[in-house]
Amino acid sequence: MNEFTPTPRSARGAYGIAGEYVTSEVIYQKESASIFSRRWLCAGRLEELDPKSSCLPISLENQSLFLIRDESGIVRAFRNFCRHRGSQLVTETNCSSMGKRIQCPYHAWTYSRSGDLTSAPNMADDDNFDAKSHGLMEVCCEVFGGFIWINFHPEESVSQWLQPIAQHFQDWQISDLRITHELVYDVQANWKLIFQNYSECYHCPIVHPMLNRLTPYQGSSNELDEGPILGGPMGLAESSQTMSCDGKFAGQPIGNLNPDQLRSVYYFTICPTMFLSLHPDYVLIHRVERIDTGNSKVTCQFLFPPDTTEQQTFAPDQAIEFWDITNRQDWEVCELAQRGMSDPAYLPGPYSPLESVVAAFDRNYLLELDLKSGD
Ligand code: FES
Ligand SMILES: [Fe+2]
Repeated sequence: MNEFTPTPRSARGAYGIAGEYVTSEVIYQKESASIFSRRWLCAGRLEELDPKSSCLPISLENQSLFLIRDESGIVRAFRNFCRHRGSQLVTETNCSSMGKRIQCPYHAWTYSRSGDLTSAPNMADDDNFDAKSHGLMEVCCEVFGGFIWINFHPEESVSQWLQPIAQHFQDWQISDLRITHELVYDVQANWKLIFQNYSECYHCPIVHPMLNRLTPYQGSSNELDEGPILGGPMGLAESSQTMSCDGKFAGQPIGNLNPDQLRSVYYFTICPTMFLSLHPDYVLIHRVERIDTGNSKVTCQFLFPPDTTEQQTFAPDQAIEFWDITNRQDWEVCELAQRGMSDPAYLPGPYSPLESVVAAFDRNYLLELDLKSGD
């Protein structure tokens, strides 16, 4: 395995967050205002929008939106309600038939793909009616790395936001990869417990014996140890090529990865919605969505270079099974933590030196919660 410097930043003196952070409705709402309405949220892959359907309804933070390519091909996001009497416009059943325009199913007000109101039956009789001020309401949307990102109140562009890991997006050619498989989970745990769990391998020898054989838990280091994007590499054991049940490649090594990148798996958390796991031969993403204080939905997608998937050697099953097993092991301990932390008598304990990234996640979370709550 690779020689990595041991995790440099100690978690010494740091304690976990209090139970109310995973149970309180007030804190949940405060997170909406301070974090989820201001950060870039991953809304899916570009390929999910195009070409199979002309527009795509999505739910983000319990808000209904739809994605569409405008007349010049640019991806845009609109709130999914009509400016007449609020009918939802785009649904799973009508999205593929919207064609060149968005027509409301209720009274047929019709919008262009850029969101302009182009037709409103009988409204011409009203001299006071101003169609220009009744276009669809747009939400900020950008594409980076083949992902569609939404931000309700952006303070910077998504490329500025993701700059700390931009080189990784380039090295793994993430824009060009394609989804080959998807796993979806309902997890009975607060979103932060899922982030915290992904941020440490203190639990790996106990919870993930198979993972620990492929990447022994002491072989991790941190590239990013402060801020909203955290993580770094874990060295593969000599006998492992990648993360899969048999330790063998699922596809071909990706592009121009250097020797270190070919012998490591890089794990990053992008707060508050995404994990990025970069393997020598594939990229795994976890998209985490808050449902309520004690429930989350996790969508896990496997991305491979399109030419790899056409080769006879392509064998993703062992990788998919490996991560399905590992995910379920993780969700189980996250759910146990949710239940234990929900006890009113719960008092946080100290972090171990192997939990420095969890402590960094907490610091960033608490900073954002307090700095930007707007109250
Ligand atoms: S609610 Fe959409 S046209 Fe009336
Ligand atoms: Fe784990």
